[in-house]
Amino acid sequence: MRAAVFASGSGSNMQALVDRQGAGTGYRIELLVTDRRCTAEARADAHRIARQRVPFNRGSGPAGDRILELLNERRIDAVLLAGFLRLVPSSVCRAFRNRILNIHPALLPSFGGRGMHGRNVHEAVLRAGAVLSGPTIHFVNERYDEGRILAQWPVPVRSGDSPADLAARVLRVEHVLFPAAAGALARALTRGWPERGRGPSFLWPEGGDASGGKLERTIGEAFGK
Ligand code: GRF
Repeated sequence: MRAAVFASGSGSNMQALVDRQGAGTGYRIELLVTDRRCTAEARADAHRIARQRVPFNRGSGPAGDRILELLNERRIDAVLLAGFLRLVPSSVCRAFRNRILNIHPALLPSFGGRGMHGRNVHEAVLRAGAVLSGPTIHFVNERYDEGRILAQWPVPVRSGDSPADLAARVLRVEHVLFPAAAGALARALTRGWPERGRGPSFLWPEGGDASGGKLERTIGEAFGK
């Protein structure tokens, strides 16, 4: 699966995706699209991944046209949003229906929507007194954080957590869950989904210790790898 990453920030999820790409997962990052100057761009350069910064200040119509041009030029099959702060233009949502995944750092449908990104998310989780958080991977539609959920993984909130503490604990899991989800999408597309075959599935593992070094294996098993 030829994948494009869209990012606006540090790009640590893009890095995790790049670190696990290849035969084992069935995807390769061929393009980075950004909407602003950001650290993700330097990571792309370090790996010789093509990148383009797309201006959104002339509206999302022109931005969408430019993005579609870039995705077509590189023969991109799927898009992975890794800390992308813009709403994906509707023309791109339509052309890549069921082929765009986003990672959100809380358990949707709570703590999502416009303005809910970065530190805001973790502050809201702590303010609500939730004892559980964790990343959500979902398909992307025209509205923030509303597409069908593909995978979630629980991360405990600990007493005395700062937003930064919680963010770091969730991010560690994001870096495992996102490559696994991208791999599941790649396998589904190989089977001809969405026209034929089954969509990517995630089955919660029965029993098993989901901590420490076993995390990657357990998440892989949950995707039926
Ligand atoms: C992550 O927490 C992700 O869940 C959210 O934005 C953050 C991006 O972090 N969508 P990074 O740029 O991948 O480090």
